[in-house]
Amino acid sequence: MDKNQSIITCKDVSTDRLKDISFELRRKQITTIVGPSGAGKSSLLFLLNRLEEPTSGEIYYLGRNIKDIPVTQLRCEIGMVFQSAYLFDGTAEENIQYGPKLRGEVEDCDVNRLLDLVDLPQSFKSRYVTSLSGGEQQRVAIARTFANKPSVLLLDEATSALDIKTTEHIEELLIRLRDEKEISVLMVTHNLKQAERMGEQTLYIEEGRLLESGLTSEIFEHPETNHFEQFLKE
Ligand SMILES: Nc1ncnc2c1ncn2[C@@H]1O[C@H](COP(=O)(O)OP(=O)(O)OP(=O)(O)O)[C@@H](O)[C@H]1O
Ligand SMILES: [Mg+2]
Repeated sequence: MDKNQSIITCKDVSTDRLKDISFELRRKQITTIVGPSGAGKSSLLFLLNRLEEPTSGEIYYLGRNIKDIPVTQLRCEIGMVFQSAYLFDGTAEENIQYGPKLRGEVEDCDVNRLLDLVDLPQSFKSRYVTSLSGGEQQRVAIARTFANKPSVLLLDEATSALDIKTTEHIEELLIRLRDEKEISVLMVTHNLKQAERMGEQTLYIEEGRLLESGLTSEIFEHPETNHFEQFLKE
């Protein structure tokens, strides 16, 4: 697959909270989304795996309109990780096997390999998730999403409840997954330093509108709009 290939294309998408959003997410690209609280960042992520539906505009995944993809398949290929891990009460293994079990594919789910992928020891398999730290729970949540073999990872402030060290580990993990598994990442963050560190492309959303977008290094250095420039100063 071509590195420049568009994985997700959002074309003039509107809802009652978003207005005419257009952007592309490319293969192996990390895109960061920033903007004030209430701007519509989470709402945009929800559209991409059909937790919400646009009122107009179209969203394509690998060239196919996401409306034409069975929603369970779409949510496997476009996986989502939230701020709190939303694990259910059970062991790390049970949580990781959740998706494959739903599809009757539990034999294919190599929990050891998935724990390894997120840098957790295999002894964690039998650990109850309630006994894990926030960072460890977030790793289990990422492993659980990876059990579904996604090509896109959506993250909604996935590190904002974690300390700096743990955040750094999750960032390293995401970069490694991008490099090794060739996934694309779309991450909402309140942390501008993180948006700059992690992003190749950045989207700036304010009041439901995509006011600025471009290569992260360029727009952080030379914002084109006063809105984004002000936001960076605050
Ligand atoms: N389920 C909902 N029903 C109605 N309005 C909602 C719903 N969820 C969010 N909103 C509103 O939509 C707007 C955008 O919300 P959204 O959660 O997408 O913002 P956000 O950019 O993710 O904010 P934050 O940074 O605080 O997470 C806000 O005005 C919010 O109050
Ligand atoms: Mg949000």
